[in-house]
Amino acid sequence: MYKYHCLNPIAEVGLDRFTTDYAQTAKVEEADAILVRSAAMHDMEFSENLKAIGRAGAGVNNIPLEKCAEKGIVVFNTPGANANGVKELVIAGMLLASRDIVGGINWVQEYEEDGNIAKLAEKQKKQFAGHEIEGKKLGVIGLGAIGVLVANVATHLGMEVYGYDPYVSVDSAWKLSRSIHHATSVDELYKECDFITIHVPATEDTKNLIDKDAISIMKKDVVVMNFARDVLVNGEDMVDALVSGAVKRYVTDFPTPEIAGVKNAIVIPHLGASTEESEDNCAVMAVAELKDYLENGNIRNS
Ligand code: MLT
Repeated sequence: MYKYHCLNPIAEVGLDRFTTDYAQTAKVEEADAILVRSAAMHDMEFSENLKAIGRAGAGVNNIPLEKCAEKGIVVFNTPGANANGVKELVIAGMLLASRDIVGGINWVQEYEEDGNIAKLAEKQKKQFAGHEIEGKKLGVIGLGAIGVLVANVATHLGMEVYGYDPYVSVDSAWKLSRSIHHATSVDELYKECDFITIHVPATEDTKNLIDKDAISIMKKDVVVMNFARDVLVNGEDMVDALVSGAVKRYVTDFPTPEIAGVKNAIVIPHLGASTEESEDNCAVMAVAELKDYLENGNIRNS
């Protein structure tokens, strides 16, 4: 019988499904396997028994991959299991950014004067007006599980979608979605699109993918969306672009000190995968992978 330690109550759902014999505690000294969501594990002492880590989510930047490789610890993640939750928030972010919906809601929340708010709203609403997304161009960088779902919904909303992914051939990308225009370079996508959304993992190659050079190629008034990882966008360059007006709005799921409070940044506290459905899907997939490895030696994904 293996010992599992669960580092996040959310991950418990998966363990409940398969076994009642687990500990929900941060004490991991004896664990054969650890199930984790986004807790950083870089400074954690691993037990000599530790054989596998299951990450209930797609990104594995909270896990010390080199240390795991040295010790022969297999790392699993759950690609696609929370893709629908993230997709829905990306679409919500795009709609929030297309008009000043956040500004309008804040105006109503902060209204303190006596008087007829409905009448005053009629006068104020001009400043919150925006554009419709139908007919606009959306650039999707990264055609993995989330990128393809976002692209497909956007086409149904009447957008023209440009996709770019250096690791997906045009042929296989066509199989994923016939309605996407496949950009031959990321610069083509930057030049053409009114909205740009990033769905690539954080690696040394993708760090600062969007910096001042990339922004200088983009259309003026572009909306940039980042629901992948904060390091993909250079924070200082993005603040400068928002202040100068080169970027109209930046929608991000990653609050960082430089972006919090910046006008025209819509900052969400990492809620992309925070739905009951996505959390359950990730937890169940992660546990299934761990058990299959520990009990049968199968590596479904690593
Ligand atoms: C992911 O990498 O899939 C997300 O960051 C998941 C999460 O919010 O835990």
